[in-house]
Amino acid sequence: MSKFCVTGSINMDLVTQVDRFPRPGETINGLSFATFPGGKGANQAVALARLGAKVSMVGKTGNDIYAGEYMQYFTNAGVNTECVSQEDTSTGIAVISVDSSGENSIIIVAGANGKVNSLYVSEKQDIISRSDFLLIQLEIPMEAVIQAADIAVKNGTKVILDPAPAADVPDSLLCNVDIITPNETEAEVLTGIKPETDADFRKAGEKLIERGAKNAVMKAGARGAYIYTNGELIHIDGFKVEVKDTTAAGDTFNAGLAYALGKGLLMREAVRFANAAAAISTTKQGAQSGMPVIAEVKTLLN
Ligand code: RIB
Repeated sequence: MSKFCVTGSINMDLVTQVDRFPRPGETINGLSFATFPGGKGANQAVALARLGAKVSMVGKTGNDIYAGEYMQYFTNAGVNTECVSQEDTSTGIAVISVDSSGENSIIIVAGANGKVNSLYVSEKQDIISRSDFLLIQLEIPMEAVIQAADIAVKNGTKVILDPAPAADVPDSLLCNVDIITPNETEAEVLTGIKPETDADFRKAGEKLIERGAKNAVMKAGARGAYIYTNGELIHIDGFKVEVKDTTAAGDTFNAGLAYALGKGLLMREAVRFANAAAAISTTKQGAQSGMPVIAEVKTLLN
């Protein structure tokens, strides 16, 4: 059985449901409010565990009311937390609005995630090197992301980088990445190409490979995803579902992709699996509430 390590952020999501997003300077009435566990790193870990994978989290919570609650979520989900520690600060927070179409807008405050530095990651190198896959994102300091990828490569652990939230990354990091998984916005930041047509996705894929990544899997929302590998562009359709909340669809996609590759599926089958897992995750409100178990993904795939 493949082993997975996620090195990344842990956030508590403070979510308001709105009819539409407010304009600058405008106050509007929200429809509801709830707190949900979130954070791109933790979401990927929980999505993997939900699928039945053996997954460890490397990250930090604060020492506030959210910390204990979050550790309980991890435990309930089956995520190994021996490499999650507490900092004397606030837990990462994401202030999220979700509109009537399921689209979201997110403000994050790093809190303890900002304390995950390269030294901390080095101290946790055993867990990374014992894993088959390392999943990383960009909600912890870049030095920690670089360090985690470096440890992984030295130990033969495959690296999947979700370059989210959108930010440029050094080519030296991309050279350590087996699969990079940007959405359209992130692909544009990394390549200078706004991917809309198939030709754009091809050019963006080429640029990501030119910059050092070994494979690119570009997420295209409801349209599914594009794989760029060995000079070939392959489009994999998305699945139609009733969307309630797209928060963490990308995280669920990455978890699904890693899980399926860990099971030995070829890239195009793994991306189809990831599309299905991500689609299911959008059918419930909250980052982690809709993340599927394996049987649900199989049902949608069939
Ligand atoms: O990818 C979704 C996540 O982004 C949310 O859970 C929120 O915490 C932000 O980090």
